[in-house]
Amino acid sequence: MANARITVHTAADIDRIAPEVHGHFSEHLGRCVYEGLWTSDSSEENGFREDVVELLSDLEIPVLRWPGGCFADDYHWEDGVGPQEERPRRRNLFWAQGPEDLPEESNAFGTDEFLQLCERIDTEPYLAANVGSGTPQEAANWVEYCNYDGDTELADRRRDNGHEEPYGVKYWGLGNENWGCGGQMSPEQYAREYRRYATYVGTQSNLMFDHDIELIACGFEGHEWNRRFLEEINQSRWGVEFPLDHLTLHHYYGRGMNVDEADEDQYDRMLVEALEMERHIERMAGAINAVATTRDIGVIIDEWGTWHPEATADNGLEQPGTVLDALSAAAVLDVFNHHSDVLTMTNIAQTVNVLQCLIETDEDEAWARPTYRVFDLYAPHKGSEAVQTSVDTPTRELDDDEDSELPLVGASASVDDDETYVTVTNLDCREEKTIEVALEGVDLDSATIEGELLFADQEPDLEVDADNADEFAAEELDVSVDSDTLIAELPASTVAGISIQ
Ligand code: AHR
Repeated sequence: MANARITVHTAADIDRIAPEVHGHFSEHLGRCVYEGLWTSDSSEENGFREDVVELLSDLEIPVLRWPGGCFADDYHWEDGVGPQEERPRRRNLFWAQGPEDLPEESNAFGTDEFLQLCERIDTEPYLAANVGSGTPQEAANWVEYCNYDGDTELADRRRDNGHEEPYGVKYWGLGNENWGCGGQMSPEQYAREYRRYATYVGTQSNLMFDHDIELIACGFEGHEWNRRFLEEINQSRWGVEFPLDHLTLHHYYGRGMNVDEADEDQYDRMLVEALEMERHIERMAGAINAVATTRDIGVIIDEWGTWHPEATADNGLEQPGTVLDALSAAAVLDVFNHHSDVLTMTNIAQTVNVLQCLIETDEDEAWARPTYRVFDLYAPHKGSEAVQTSVDTPTRELDDDEDSELPLVGASASVDDDETYVTVTNLDCREEKTIEVALEGVDLDSATIEGELLFADQEPDLEVDADNADEFAAEELDVSVDSDTLIAELPASTVAGISIQ
């Protein structure tokens, strides 16, 4: 008998899954940029770490956010362009980082290095401009430096710095967590700042640039903050023409769970916290629907993932990479698929070495974490049409909260031309599950069915390192067919991807 039954309603479209939903985030924090993405080792081409570049290229990441995080609202982009030996060394107000572990920024990695990295790995850049301690002028100049093809001092400066053509940066964030590290602003105060910045950064873009730019405002997890922000934005005399394309929020979870000491009850709790993502997305979409009815504003989650007590400012927010973290990422990616009608981008924090990074490095090597494997397994969903799935699953009540329960099996599905792709996660860290997948309207007799399984042989708290990283790679999943239903066994804490063509 099946433990969970999943029905894929192949004709019930939700929306296209924006590829950008599989996006990433990198900040000048700890060993993310310095040592992670970039090295001063002159044997590497342009300072990029080739091993990391290769892993990122293989994953075909659609978008990369930079330079922060909190760092963004104290970053002055002109410090990081031009000859490296002339760039000023500055404080890093928020984070220790780099080889010397100091709260200082060498500015060796700046705009041109970042944008050339994006070109190397074929990803769309997303730049976060400084609203907290910067000026609208500085932000508008940054857009001009990056994107203008005309005859101005800033466009020429970019050419002198080695990039003849405009970079064509499409995504521009105006601030980060401006209710907190980005200036401690009220929603109304931030909305007024946003309007001031967007006036100079966004409204002239049609005249100056050959391509569209999209502006991203910082929101909050709570409905009220977003509602007040949007109401103040609506006071713009330009009305709906006023540039505001996306609103963001951040969701971290697992802060109460030390990876090395946690038990299975805490695993359940952390997974429930991860699934709260659903409520956050719905609340933000609700605020947009209620207040900004005539605008088309996408929801972005531009920081998300686990943040365990092991990750402190002192250690550059480093924490172990485990199957459990990867399971939570799978559960959240399913949530994202269910909300493809409102989500325009997400960025897991952070790409290399920091928090729920996908890649970890030491001096000599770089390796994929279990979360990297999940993104790889979910890659066929990118750009496909998400369809409704119903999941009939057992649940477990949390040991310390009888009002919360964990659905032990999660799933999502998408359809693209002739392929239906279904991802299924056994979130139960204690027991295996037999799952049945019924696909409405799909003739399984003539279909080619292929399944892959992650983490069948690993305990949920097993920590990845350079020596065991390959053991987390996907293996074949045995899928049998019983008339219109697929059947598979999912061991405890595993993730499966099933392709039906
Ligand atoms: O990702 C680490 C920090 O978390 C970011 O700098 C900030 O935006 C968030 O609070």
